Amino acid sequence: MDSFKRTLIVISLFAQTLIFGDSTIPDISKGERIYQSNCSGCHGMSGRGNGPASKVLNPLPRNFTDGKYLFRTTPSGSLPTDENIHKTIRNGVIRTSMPSWEGILNDSDIADVTSYIKTFAKKFTIQTPAPEVELPSTAPEKTDALVEDGKMLYRLMECFNCHGSEGRADGSSSNELENDWGEPIVPPDFAHDSFKGGNDPVDIYRTFSTGLTGTPMPAYDDDIFGFSREDIVGDYSNLEMDYTKDEIKAFDTWAKNSISGDELYNKTEDEMYAYFRMRKWALVYYVLDQREKESLIFKLFKKDYELTQ
Ligand code: HEC
Ligand code: HEC
Repeated sequence: MDSFKRTLIVISLFAQTLIFGDSTIPDISKGERIYQSNCSGCHGMSGRGNGPASKVLNPLPRNFTDGKYLFRTTPSGSLPTDENIHKTIRNGVIRTSMPSWEGILNDSDIADVTSYIKTFAKKFTIQTPAPEVELPSTAPEKTDALVEDGKMLYRLMECFNCHGSEGRADGSSSNELENDWGEPIVPPDFAHDSFKGGNDPVDIYRTFSTGLTGTPMPAYDDDIFGFSREDIVGDYSNLEMDYTKDEIKAFDTWAKNSISGDELYNKTEDEMYAYFRMRKWALVYYVLDQREKESLIFKLFKKDYELTQ
């Protein structure tokens, strides 16, 4: 192509940008206007989470100044991607006052306000988000065996300390947890509460993989699931406060029947990681099972109730 034609193309592209606005480049000053009229009442004029409405809100609106975001596809502690922030703005955060802006702000407004809230945290100017965690887009089938494995993994990984023995938010430290901003934070009740990061198995799997940065909820990467029978059979004194003798016995039986080191290390690397990930799915299905069990009891009760009316 000769340089004259190229110059013409460049000029015409430039003119299009001027005339139509280029939706791929966010407009920070428009983002600022959107923020100050829609978001600052809660998140504060300078993004510190201290807008006038924050006084009556629990949890408090996010403080944007240190770049910590709960809902990400990036590893624990990393900055979020723009798409992660867009998604939260579009969908809102269930069980909190953070509204969904779908239908109120269009995609380009959301991109503009995202680029503006990023200016509150210096971290965005000195770091880029770490590469996204590899995440599955589909879940394996739920089976009773997976749920049972999950129940035991939940004990092994001491989720109960924060979440309670059956995930009812009555763990020994459930009432003492704080987020990174020094605010008290209560874990969800698995049987009754919706999950902020989404209730689908793939959503919960993502939450386990990335953690909720800024809160005590840790990330569990695949390697954490790399244990064998020899690593876990033995001392169960950590379970004594939260579980009955029978429950600890069931755990011991499960531990003694779990895969041996020899069997595990005879697998190829791919097989081994598939195995570790299946353990993570087991936890996902155990957590979901708490809710399903509860709604079944509710339904049965309701049916009984309706029949007796
Ligand atoms: C009525 C109060 C309220 C308004 C208005 C509001 N938010 Fe929020 N927002 C919250 C609360 C509360 C949280 C914290 C949720 C949590 O910690 O689970 C939050 C969290 C967030 C997060 C954090 C997501 C993460 O991954 O940690 C983003 C981003 C966000 N809000 C953006 C916005 C934007 C942009 C607007 C305006 C278009 C807005 N919010 C308006 C209350 C509000
Ligand atoms: C140190 C305490 C702690 C430990 C250990 C912990 N969690 Fe959490 N978890 C929390 C807190 C606090 C929240 C609530 C975060 C919020 O709502 O902002 C949470 C949230 C969750 C959620 C809901 C996520 C959502 O999208 O709302 C699930 C599910 C969960 N945890 C499962 C687990 C499992 C399974 C384990 C063990 C493998 C575990 N947690 C270990 C503290 C913990």
